[in-house]
Amino acid sequence: MKSIVVVGAQWGDEGKGKVVDYMAASFDYVARCAGGHNAGHTVIYDGHRFVLQLIPCGMLRPGRHAVIGTGVVVDPAALVAELDSLGKAGIDVNGRLHLSNRAHVIFPYHRQMEKAAEAALGEAKIGTTSRGIGPAYEDKMARSGIRICDLMEPARFREKLSRVVRDKDAICRAAFGAPLEVQGLAEQYLAYAERLRPFVTDTTSLLNEALDRNQSVLFEGAQGTMLDIDYGTYPFVTSSNATAGGACTGLGVPPTRISGVVGITKAYTTRVGSGPFPTEMPDLEAGEVRDRGKEYGAVTGRPRRCGWLDLAVLRYAVMLNGITSLVVTKLDVFDTQREIQVCVGYRRKGSPSGTGSLLRDMPPAAEDFAQITPEYRTLPGWLATTEGVRDPSLLPKAAVEYLKFISGELGVEIGMISTGPERDATIVPAETQLASWL
Ligand code: GDP
Ligand code: IMO
Ligand code: MG
Repeated sequence: MKSIVVVGAQWGDEGKGKVVDYMAASFDYVARCAGGHNAGHTVIYDGHRFVLQLIPCGMLRPGRHAVIGTGVVVDPAALVAELDSLGKAGIDVNGRLHLSNRAHVIFPYHRQMEKAAEAALGEAKIGTTSRGIGPAYEDKMARSGIRICDLMEPARFREKLSRVVRDKDAICRAAFGAPLEVQGLAEQYLAYAERLRPFVTDTTSLLNEALDRNQSVLFEGAQGTMLDIDYGTYPFVTSSNATAGGACTGLGVPPTRISGVVGITKAYTTRVGSGPFPTEMPDLEAGEVRDRGKEYGAVTGRPRRCGWLDLAVLRYAVMLNGITSLVVTKLDVFDTQREIQVCVGYRRKGSPSGTGSLLRDMPPAAEDFAQITPEYRTLPGWLATTEGVRDPSLLPKAAVEYLKFISGELGVEIGMISTGPERDATIVPAETQLASWL
């Protein structure tokens, strides 16, 4: 049985799209388990650039199946737009795309309510992607959500929608002084329903039966460990479980059927939106990394905040997700860096650096991050190009030392190194666990 979870080990945008696309060549199914079109997964090959938001990247590999699981929140308008753009690119999804009948649906009122809630927070806003993700998960947990299986039954759908709209309109008027925008909503969504109907199925049985037949499944994580609703930098997080456990709950595949977990990290760290970021670089240094790494949101176009690699975050990610093989992406972005700082752990502010033990646990509250400071080691840069390198023996010595340092500190192998956005700018060292999964 081969069923591997790919999870973001930082604050998202680690390069999951690139890595999943690469690995998908060796899998039958690629499945998304959480999040929605807040995700933006970039895949580049043969001069084409795709940014997939809801459809798993496996769709770009001929013959592979792509599953949008129960844990995903689906905006039908976004999904239809994505289907249209894949259609224009000549990618045939028929018979290969499968959408969970239990997934929850995002409505325009979710976006409207999110916008109002973010505005009310002022300076303390989360900096969400404004896609209605949080409010849709709120409805799911409040047990008032509308699911794909409801959308497929017009009478039931109309009845549920009118009940929800009545309640939400009252909330919206009371809390934000505005009526809910619902003009023509039922008709619009029922039109989407007909477009999506051919893909709707019980994805839980689909995947478990595929595993019974000894077919392989790659779980495409969205967001990242530090954005996880339970374990991230709450409340500056997304509203779902972005950690590896989300693959089981979000797809109905039991933990006993997961055979491995791959974590992805950039050679540095980025984050979009507000919230703690201990290793964030000063503006000038961040600017250079942002330019070289083209660090602008794939979904919102927002400039990403940039910082040094944070091994406290990665250690936490290794523990939480059970990562046994790590992928390091964007190594090439550091090609011009004379010196590289790496955070090896956190220390309480005011305690002397260099000696004594580092903090063992990740601070639980966003406020606690103001009390800690990163402890850095400085490593030499390589000042040579790694762009597009595919043979590990061609990597500069200092780059190899950097990777060895990361692997040694975390106690996990580096199973893959990405040296550019293109599919083939990839190194998979032989003899690694990851290589055995491909
Ligand atoms: P995801 O959300 O984790 O899939 O990551 P995004 O697609 O949002 O952001 C990653 C960005 O880095 C994309 O623009 C990728 O094309 C790009 N990228 C991925 N791997 C590499 C790499 O090794 N080097 C460089 N320079 N760019 C990369
Ligand atoms: P991928 O899959 C980076 C961030 C938002 C915000 C917070 C909450 O491409 O790595 P939300 O709209 O989810 O309620 O926003 O989470 N965020 C991401 N940051 N990559 C993502 O996805 C993200 N999805 C959400 O910027 O800080
Ligand atoms: Mg992204």
